[in-house]
Amino acid sequence: MIQFILNDKETSTDLPPGELLLDLIRYHKHLMGTKIGCREGDCGACTVLIGETVNSKLRYRSVTSCLTALGNVQGKHVVTVEGLNLEVSGQGTEKLNPVQHAMYKEGATQCGFCTPGFIVSLAGFCLSDSDKSYENAIASIDGNICRCTGYKSIQRAAKNIAELMQQNKGDVIEYVTSNSILPEYFSGIKKRLLELNSKTNGIEKQTADPKKYLGGGTDLYVQQHEKMVHADIDFLFNKIELNGIKKEGNKCILGASVTITDLMESKTIKDAFPDFRKVNKLVSSTPIRNIATIAGNFVNASPIGDLTILFLALNARIVVSNEISKREIPLREFYKGYKQLDKREEEFIEQIWFELPDKDHLFNFEKVSKRTHLDIASVNSALSITMNGKIISEAGLSAGGVGPIPMFLSKTSAFLKDKKISEQLVNEAIEIAQSEISPISDARGSEEYKRLLLSQLIKAHFITLFPKVHLNSLFTNAEH
Ligand SMILES: Cc1cc2nc3c(=O)[nH]c(=O)nc-3n(C[C@H](O)[C@H](O)[C@H](O)COP(=O)(O)OP(=O)(O)OC[C@H]3O[C@@H](n4cnc5c(N)ncnc54)[C@H](O)[C@@H]3O)c2cc1C
Ligand code: FES
Ligand code: FES
Repeated sequence: MIQFILNDKETSTDLPPGELLLDLIRYHKHLMGTKIGCREGDCGACTVLIGETVNSKLRYRSVTSCLTALGNVQGKHVVTVEGLNLEVSGQGTEKLNPVQHAMYKEGATQCGFCTPGFIVSLAGFCLSDSDKSYENAIASIDGNICRCTGYKSIQRAAKNIAELMQQNKGDVIEYVTSNSILPEYFSGIKKRLLELNSKTNGIEKQTADPKKYLGGGTDLYVQQHEKMVHADIDFLFNKIELNGIKKEGNKCILGASVTITDLMESKTIKDAFPDFRKVNKLVSSTPIRNIATIAGNFVNASPIGDLTILFLALNARIVVSNEISKREIPLREFYKGYKQLDKREEEFIEQIWFELPDKDHLFNFEKVSKRTHLDIASVNSALSITMNGKIISEAGLSAGGVGPIPMFLSKTSAFLKDKKISEQLVNEAIEIAQSEISPISDARGSEEYKRLLLSQLIKAHFITLFPKVHLNSLFTNAEH
């Protein structure tokens, strides 16, 4: 049995743990506010909040329920749009909360299909630890699409909500419940989750079939939804040792189930890479980043996986385990061919680690896609560089979308070592990079276009990282 709190009620289900949360919510619990749009994580119509206690604190994040397995909500609090309604005391009726009211007042809803998703995401903004700026309110709805209202009215509603939340100087749950922003029952959830988790056990294995390792499911449920429902799933989020980010000496060690949002919120990562948050905002959308794991990105083995490209440049190592023994593999040696990995079926990624850079280190990530948010790259690239005065002492350049695997450009990286930055150096590096790649023409662009993109991204790395070096004519002298 999977047990969790759904809105204000404890609930349990004997549906398979691989079943989708969205289907339980709509077809078994008949909560029709959560909509089905794309079923692929793209539209946000199915957004719900997941609350759990992390380091003794109640934390809420938005997720797309169309990609969330029931096993991933075991022992948690699931909030649908119905769970955000305020009760009119003593009358047994409900009224709009300030988030819903802001959408109504600003005319931010037309056909209404997308509206529950926007409201849930904005409620997630209210409950989050993020600074309550207008920009963060807008960022919280980057995974929601509206096809008929136009976004201006939704932006105005988000602004009203940010202003309301800016008045809070204390505990968020206390503020939203005592000011009738969200229902009173939220104040008791932390205690109820602790009680629930003290009496529930882990998820039992179902069949003797080979296990499917599941992170957030943002790849598996897009590609193999039907198969996953009855698969024997190993829910990796539920293994405590696979979560968390820690620093040991100069090593940054990431549990395999660390999500992109975990990376963005980590102090260790922020201290080492001040621009990391900006970089990661280019990856998918808030509800996907909230559940998508690093290991899932590596094992999916997409040649354009953003996190893979990023960690290739940083020379990350992965530790794989079969529960009996472990081995360590440099990420740069993990990919053996298109979707072929140096990993046996019974092995899962346990940890990822990399050396934290020192103060002479520079890092940049670039991505070109048709849309800024919620789009996969045509070509992406990362450059990690360590300087000794004006000389490059170490360089790692990676690129995606330019070959059958996510590529570490070893020859170009070796060429850059011990050189001084100049326009000539960048142009020579581009020539070597062109000899290392083998892009093909596909839906994301022709071979020629992808070659051009990589050249431009390499120039962008150097112009961004070395603003004081005169490199401006790199672009003005470009042939295209
Ligand atoms: C709408 C949308 C937008 C997206 N945008 C982007 C984007 O901009 N950039 C990008 O790079 N990706 C994007 N993705 C792809 C996806 O979100 C990422 O690849 C994500 O990191 C996958 O992680 P996951 O935990 O959800 O993987 P899952 O679906 O859980 O797993 C993916 C694969 O990894 C395996 N796996 C997971 N964890 C482990 C482990 N610890 N050990 C061994 N195997 C494991 C699974 O068995 C499966 O084969 C997007 C996906 C969606 C749906
Ligand atoms: S139905 Fe579109 S994101 Fe879930
Ligand atoms: S109001 Fe119709 S899709 Fe947004």
